[in-house]
Amino acid sequence: MPSERPTGFGIHDLSFASTRFVLTHAELSRHRGDDVSKYHAGIGQRAMSVPAVDEDIVTMAAAAAGPVVERHGADNIRTLVFATETSVDQSKSAGVYVHSLLGLPPQIRVVELKQACYSATAGLQFATALVHRDPDQQVLVIASDVSRYDLDSPGEATQGAAAAALLVSADPALIRLEGPSGLFTRDVMDFWRPNYRSTALVKGKESVTAYLQALEAAWQDYRARGGVPHGDLRAVCYHQPYSRMAHKAHRYLLERCAGGADPLAVDRAVGLTTGYNELLGNSYTASVYLALAALLEGDDELAGRLVGLFSYGSGSVAEFFAGRVQPGYRDHLRTAAHQEAVTRRWPVDYATYRDLRETLLPTDGGHYSLPQQTAGPFRLAGIRGHERIYEPTDR
Ligand code: CAA
Repeated sequence: MPSERPTGFGIHDLSFASTRFVLTHAELSRHRGDDVSKYHAGIGQRAMSVPAVDEDIVTMAAAAAGPVVERHGADNIRTLVFATETSVDQSKSAGVYVHSLLGLPPQIRVVELKQACYSATAGLQFATALVHRDPDQQVLVIASDVSRYDLDSPGEATQGAAAAALLVSADPALIRLEGPSGLFTRDVMDFWRPNYRSTALVKGKESVTAYLQALEAAWQDYRARGGVPHGDLRAVCYHQPYSRMAHKAHRYLLERCAGGADPLAVDRAVGLTTGYNELLGNSYTASVYLALAALLEGDDELAGRLVGLFSYGSGSVAEFFAGRVQPGYRDHLRTAAHQEAVTRRWPVDYATYRDLRETLLPTDGGHYSLPQQTAGPFRLAGIRGHERIYEPTDR
């Protein structure tokens, strides 16, 4: 519970979950006949999470948020924000399924937000405003995505899947948001997914340029509004469509805004933020918060230090903001559970990955049951008359 006068607002807990299966880039490069160093060194990716047939954004989201609710209870959660680019319904919020699976009380508002990879950050900022208005309340922000590009396209190597759950509260145990946000919106077609497609369309090189331009603009707005100079930030968590993008982005920021980029300074700022993303792949809305989890778990000298966060959603909307890591933060981390979520995934060969990719859910309104493949706590059991049926497993 918050004290009489909260000292600040921000992230109180952070938990993530991923999928049953994993495809390594070594296996992908064997299929493609590419040099594996293009993936390991060139884009900084070693593996990608692959959902089982009974996993989706809802099952990952509930798996990520379950431990948060278990630790803190649900009594103070009055809002659940579900951020995703991979929505499963054009009308119903995926958060309502999560609300049901986790047995949350009915006195909660639930809503889904969309803006490519950015919307979880919008959710975090809206949540902070809500708890500022009533510090007794908490907000559960869940980011969950499965990134899919066309088979054999350049983007395929950057696929992935994960969900991150953030509990936003007064007097947070992990990160207190501090200072202004630098914002930037521009209508650009760098990456998008029309309603009739299950894979994203992307102009790869243009998307990288659009990301970097948005970073520079958001950073300039952040500084113009009183944000701290880059030297005051112990590290920066970037949205990572692939993990080398974090290095590329910070190098660009230093070159454009500080007149030069010392490779050691770039590595110091982002080196500890990529550990999860390089093994899980692009998780769109969750990616920047997986970077934050990796940083908090990897650096035990962050207490009292400011870290930057850069969120980018193609299309495009970007935000640069900062948060101060709270004393004692390491007592509240979920390092063992997160490492287990990564290591317990079952490696699949290319043919199995392809079968999983090509298994489409029926759309004819019939009744279908799905085999149990997931090792997670919730599954999509089937489809009946266009209704998705979710259920807990015995895990
Ligand atoms: N050894 C080491 N490095 C190698 C190599 C090798 N054998 N072969 C290539 N490389 C390097 C290249 O030099 C290149 O490095 P730079 O980025 O520093 O130039 C890097 O590996 C990638 O090589 P290519 O440019 O040849 O790779 P590609 O043509 O396959 O395309 C990509 C790369 C454009 C990122 C593609 O993967 C893609 O389209 N991805 C999806 C879009 C994306 O992720 N965009 C990022 C910004 S948009 C965003 O952030 C939103 C979002 O989540 C989608």
